[in-house]
Amino acid sequence: MSEARPAVVPERPAGPAPTVGAAADIADRAERRGVIARYAALLPITPATPALTLDEGDTPLIHAPRLADWVGVAELWVKFEGTNPTGSFKDRGMVVAVARAVEAGTRTLLCASTGNTAASAAAYAARAGVQAVVLLPGGRVAGAKIAQALAYGARAIAVDGGFDAALDAARALAADYPVALVNSVNPHRIAGQATAAYEICDALGGAPDVLALPVGNGGNITAYWAGFRRYRALGRTTALPSILGGQAAGAAPLVLGHPVAQPETIASAIRIGRPASWDSAVEAARESGGEFRAVADAAILDAYRAIATREGIFCEPSSAAGVAALRASVAAGRVGRASRAVCVCTGHGLKDPQFAPQLGADAPLVAPSAQALAAALGL
Ligand code: F0G
Repeated sequence: MSEARPAVVPERPAGPAPTVGAAADIADRAERRGVIARYAALLPITPATPALTLDEGDTPLIHAPRLADWVGVAELWVKFEGTNPTGSFKDRGMVVAVARAVEAGTRTLLCASTGNTAASAAAYAARAGVQAVVLLPGGRVAGAKIAQALAYGARAIAVDGGFDAALDAARALAADYPVALVNSVNPHRIAGQATAAYEICDALGGAPDVLALPVGNGGNITAYWAGFRRYRALGRTTALPSILGGQAAGAAPLVLGHPVAQPETIASAIRIGRPASWDSAVEAARESGGEFRAVADAAILDAYRAIATREGIFCEPSSAAGVAALRASVAAGRVGRASRAVCVCTGHGLKDPQFAPQLGADAPLVAPSAQALAAALGL
């Protein structure tokens, strides 16, 4: 493992030494609300950082034995990030990025997004009293995510191109104009998202053997790896997990080893051909002894169905890519069947329900009588 590269999570610039390590700290943490209050000592904040929160983080880690059977591992837990305030993991990092931007005097936040970053940026901008501008790949974003961004009062602009082009445009705009870019190229986003790794270690008493998650722009896999390493450095876990990144087969640049010009998949949140955090994502998979795995859309939908019907967890299709990848890696002998695994389900199913009818049969229209119902049910 090369430790020579600079840490992905910036050190806290000033203020008292971290209090982690004290036994009382975990109990205190449960009393505090939101990522900034709970993890102040592990975040790049200053005494002047506003105490922004929508009570993000502290999401459930759900024991999933029936999904474990389907995947083929001994023990499986689902970290369900869909319970965050805007329904995705983005809120963990967004709260830190927006707080720091507001601290620096920014009045306008900017992001390119396949939808979830936009919803999150819009919510935290509203909460902080600043404006969000969100650039969305034209015609390619789940309607509920656009509705969220607009509901929170963001200015939404459809860009004539995919996510990669939209992010290029956002970066160019932010370089020349007084707007704060809150995509995951912003290190405050990564530092905030790393808190999910801390929560998993605290809940399990250490890191799992393998952590599987969907990968699009590469920010979240970077954040998890940074988080696990940070926790190990603090003595909070002795082990580190192998990190398994699931990519949709039609949008799998990190599996192929080169950018994909026209990424295509039903998993619109991860329809990305040129991940901005390419190097750090590759480093996370390599250093951790993990891998990237491409999964066909049909396998993503199979996993989507299994997560919902076997455990009662409704995530968006993109979120299922990590579970699909884990199942494929077990079948390929790359992940041992005795493993204790955590799958991150990154976003809520209600955000992108277009494929939900495929989870089961349609609801037939039946007369409102016991007789008709009994006939329809074959009773
Ligand atoms: N899962 C969901 C539900 C997402 O929305 C994203 C990314 C990912 C996984 C992948 O995370 O990009 O850090 O590798 N969504 C971004 C967005 C691109 O704009 O909302 P990543």
